[in-house]
Amino acid sequence: MTHTVALSFADGNTLFFKAGHNDLLMDAALRNGITLPIDCREGVCGTCKGLCESGQYEMEYADEEALTEAETADRYVLSCQTRIQSDATFYYDFASSLCSHQPASLQTAVITELKDVSADTTLLQLALPERNSTLEFLPGQYANLHIPGSELTRAYSFANAPTPDNQLQFLIRKLPNGQMGQYLQQARVGDQLQIEAPFGAFYLREVTRPVYFLAGGTGLSAFLAMLDVLVQQAAPVQQPIRLYYGVNQVADLCQQERLNHYRTLLPDFDWQPVVSQPDDSWNGLSGYIQQHLPLSALRDEAFDMYLCGPPPMIDAVNQWCDEHQLQHGKLYSEKFTAPVK
Ligand SMILES: Cc1cc2nc3c(=O)[nH]c(=O)nc-3n(C[C@H](O)[C@H](O)[C@H](O)COP(=O)(O)OP(=O)(O)OC[C@H]3O[C@@H](n4cnc5c(N)ncnc54)[C@H](O)[C@@H]3O)c2cc1C
Ligand code: FES
Repeated sequence: MTHTVALSFADGNTLFFKAGHNDLLMDAALRNGITLPIDCREGVCGTCKGLCESGQYEMEYADEEALTEAETADRYVLSCQTRIQSDATFYYDFASSLCSHQPASLQTAVITELKDVSADTTLLQLALPERNSTLEFLPGQYANLHIPGSELTRAYSFANAPTPDNQLQFLIRKLPNGQMGQYLQQARVGDQLQIEAPFGAFYLREVTRPVYFLAGGTGLSAFLAMLDVLVQQAAPVQQPIRLYYGVNQVADLCQQERLNHYRTLLPDFDWQPVVSQPDDSWNGLSGYIQQHLPLSALRDEAFDMYLCGPPPMIDAVNQWCDEHQLQHGKLYSEKFTAPVK
């Protein structure tokens, strides 16, 4: 028995294909030349999230960080875990062009820079060896870095725009006892590591209305890449871009000069640090990001809001937006979920 499956996308395109009964959505799409963004294939990362608009399906495993109970009830699905049971239509909140991008490739990179940029953050810069072409990725996407000497990989958002010489930056929070943190302590410029990229469906859409970037800790990285890309655009973006950068302690703040510099490069960009556990010397914003968002503007005007960082921060902002019934905004998020491999 075969079923007709339609995939519709945020850019208005719809792609059709035939799938067998009980086929995995991700696999059936791939057999028909449609490369849905995926990563873990285990129902954990949430990269492959879509919405079933019609038809029957069965879901295998879905981790609660990848799909909340409410999303499951609303018929959101993980394409890597969805088995097709009838003709069906699925919606994906990204452009169809993301499905024709080159699949992620595994390459050997060399460390070209390694420096601590705050109490708990390291900036890691990698170069890919001589290649014919630039590694293309969208700002907001991420790479999987293999930790040398182990079978482990960790996901990190690109912290710069693609460069012709393939220099790739990452902001990495060093967790006490974290495998990546321990590796970085003994890593040196010139060392090699394996990198697989690009992954993810979190990326900067065309800017047509005010944009809010909400970063939790090293979630800042995705926004540095987005700001780099905005700076490079031939026609400078005129919409207001506001970044709120939340950290626990003042000493965790990093890349402040770079953020200040974007103020001079973009027509209407501003940023605010928000510190949840400030010391007495701090006279900036304190508490959590959502306490400082401009509620009346968000209630009255259309906006795009991008969230990137630890799951609790993203859940808290989502809840705040629900509580205030913000009708005119579109939210996009990337959760830094704990690794599965
Ligand atoms: C799509 C995606 C993008 C990401 N981008 C970035 C990025 O740009 N920068 C970045 O720093 N991280 C990012 N992360 C998180 C990153 O992949 C790792 O999970 C993180 O760096 C921890 O790895 P580790 O090896 O240091 O710690 P692990 O060895 O995995 O964990 C050590 C201990 O810390 C706990 N732990 C794991 N993660 C966290 C956490 N977030 N907060 C508190 N405790 C934790 C573990 O449960 C464990 O007990 C991203 C994650 C995802 C899914
Ligand atoms: S690829 Fe489906 S949840 Fe990770």
